[in-house]
Amino acid sequence: MKDLPKEPLSSEITPKAVYVNRREFMKNGALALGTAAATGSALLWLGGQGPPPDVPEVAAASADNPLIVAGRSYDVPDEAQTPNRDVITYNNYYEFGIDKDDPARNAHTLVTRPWTIQVEGLVARPQTIDVDTLLNWFPLEERVYRMRCVEAWSMVIPWLGFPLASLVKRLEPMGSAKFIEFTTLLNPEQMPGQRSPILKWPYVEGLRLDEALNPLAFIATGLYGSVLLNQSGAPLRLVTPWKYGFKGVKSIVKIRFTDEQPKNTWAIAAPREYGFYANVNPEVNHPRWSQANERRIGEFQRRKTLPFNGYADEVAGLYAGMDLRANF
Ligand code: MTE
Repeated sequence: MKDLPKEPLSSEITPKAVYVNRREFMKNGALALGTAAATGSALLWLGGQGPPPDVPEVAAASADNPLIVAGRSYDVPDEAQTPNRDVITYNNYYEFGIDKDDPARNAHTLVTRPWTIQVEGLVARPQTIDVDTLLNWFPLEERVYRMRCVEAWSMVIPWLGFPLASLVKRLEPMGSAKFIEFTTLLNPEQMPGQRSPILKWPYVEGLRLDEALNPLAFIATGLYGSVLLNQSGAPLRLVTPWKYGFKGVKSIVKIRFTDEQPKNTWAIAAPREYGFYANVNPEVNHPRWSQANERRIGEFQRRKTLPFNGYADEVAGLYAGMDLRANF
């Protein structure tokens, strides 16, 4: 195996074209904010030196908590959960900036009610569903999952939500549907990052339908016993713990069933670096850094990265006979 750096510098995470555009992003953002009601902290953010994110206290799930959780169906018993403060202040959500603390500082501009999810494509009944209707369809459950970012850091997160399979079955895709595509809100007014072409907006991700029906695939609506904060992808986002974190599309407004493999945002941005499958694989390095191990947020020692992020028993069968180097 080539001697690659363990982890990218933050300036290297994005493909070069994206990084080169960063200046333009800052400039466009400044222009847009200049014409809008620019606040002092927004301008400070553009200078990369905003105030520390305001972290609300989050109550643990309890009898008094309004979120009723049916139970915990998956756990990572031997690994400590990443502190909530880290989970909600160290984020990737380019619609709100490209530094890890930008989303916590900036995502308050996202308006999550009213919110609808449009269902279209190869489906029995195309429909538009109010998010609160959808949330009432399924009992909430808690799932503690490892999350491994393609940038070689990881967390252990107690999500709340429901199985993606339950949603897919309820939406009744046609027999001809082979893939499911998810799209994030497109709203440059609420999402300042979308004022700049650092990525192709809106953010899109997809799964093969059999992946979506795997019991591990999850729609998260909360974490650490409370509803999702905007920076984590409110009001609902995808969680596929055996895949790199970029598959976890946030703030979903559209679900489309299709017979063609969706074109996912990061694969469009840098096709040699990011694929469609994005299964966690310590054997296949990113062209610019090693994927053999990872930095668990809050720990000093690096951990070995596990095939399928430790979920091989549950998901390896989905890829039987596939070349996982070609289909990265
Ligand atoms: N979804 C949207 N809409 N925009 C993004 O920039 N970033 C992805 C993914 N979902 C992203 C997104 C990446 S790269 C990662 S690692 C995870 O969200 C991060 O999720 P977290 O911030 O909750 O840890």
